[in-house]
Amino acid sequence: MRVLMTGADGYIGTRMGGVLIDAGHDVTGLDTGFHRSGWLYHSPEPRPSVTTGDTRDITPDDLHGYDAVVHLGELSNDPVGELNRDLTYQINHRATVRLATLAKAAGVQRFVHMSSCSVYGASGDRPSSELDTPAPLTAYAESKVLVERDVGSLADDDFSPTFLRNATAFGASPRQRFDLVVNDLAATGYLYKEIRMTSDGSPWRPFVHILDIAGAVAGVLTASRDAVHGQIFNVGSDEQNYQVRTIAETVADVIPGCSLTFGEPSPDRRNYRASFEKIRALLPNFSCQWDVRRGVEELVRTFEAISFGEVDYRSPRYSRVLQVKHLLSTGQIDDDLRWTYPAD
Ligand SMILES: NC(=O)c1ccc[n+]([C@@H]2O[C@H](COP(=O)([O-])OP(=O)(O)OC[C@H]3O[C@@H](n4cnc5c(N)ncnc54)[C@H](O)[C@@H]3O)[C@@H](O)[C@H]2O)c1
Repeated sequence: MRVLMTGADGYIGTRMGGVLIDAGHDVTGLDTGFHRSGWLYHSPEPRPSVTTGDTRDITPDDLHGYDAVVHLGELSNDPVGELNRDLTYQINHRATVRLATLAKAAGVQRFVHMSSCSVYGASGDRPSSELDTPAPLTAYAESKVLVERDVGSLADDDFSPTFLRNATAFGASPRQRFDLVVNDLAATGYLYKEIRMTSDGSPWRPFVHILDIAGAVAGVLTASRDAVHGQIFNVGSDEQNYQVRTIAETVADVIPGCSLTFGEPSPDRRNYRASFEKIRALLPNFSCQWDVRRGVEELVRTFEAISFGEVDYRSPRYSRVLQVKHLLSTGQIDDDLRWTYPAD
């Protein structure tokens, strides 16, 4: 398949490109490049060529000749989404609906959107399924629900959108993120041999390795149209609903000599588990190959191989909100998150 992958230079996209190429797809990337300067380690995995561009500026010509669009290029977590909520709806919702509309008009048949299990909000102890009514708590999560509704309504005989509600990601990527709880705790444990949780770690979250997210996308692209047409899937596995305290305990267990203490219950209301029954039933060619323990071991091996240090851990390059704030405060992007070129 000829695949256009937006967000190709992000945390997940940087590894997903290789997975899709290895699966035999002809992949081209598109990314505005907020995180292009962050490159934690060299990787032998194949990468697509990536065009610099903003999804808000996509033209019909940009979409001709593709069989599928895999859309990762959005503001990608709650803190970035809260910097400017209007902009979050503009980029994550309206630009995505426009992208899908133009893709459909250009004859693209498959559209895979990266949604998020955070649409379930504070759903509590019962695992949320795709049939539950979403209860988004932030602009980021709400933008994902709006895309599911509006791009979903474009589905017809010639256009099959699929929405992947990914669990919270973890794992090593050259474009690393330490604003994700597994990665953050692994880095802290590795560097300081001490994890001091500020909360009691009681909230539940579903987790998934970034290569398993890529595997789900690969599975959707080759699945029969009937299995994925207009469908929403939670992406992850039932075994990987964890309390955050279990993540911390796993990290402390993997890293020799790492101590662990907990704090008071947190006011953070995000507490949810997800059910992964539907993806198991409808996408039998997909199953998670990774769990948190294996992901932490991968991170630690990566840290050892590159003499990972505090400078890397603290760099804005490896945090989504810090990098966007850095580009704003240094005038490299304007308030609309568009590049300002010194030569203009
Ligand atoms: N990381 C997670 O835990 C997680 C969980 C669920 C869903 N997702 C979704 O998966 C996708 C990828 O997430 P990620 O963790 O790799 O995020 P990321 O921020 O590392 O990557 C997103 C990429 O999109 C690009 N981008 C942003 N706005 C753009 C625009 N207007 N035009 C073109 N490119 C633009 C950025 O430059 C960046 O490289 C996002 O849609 C995110 O919401 C991520």
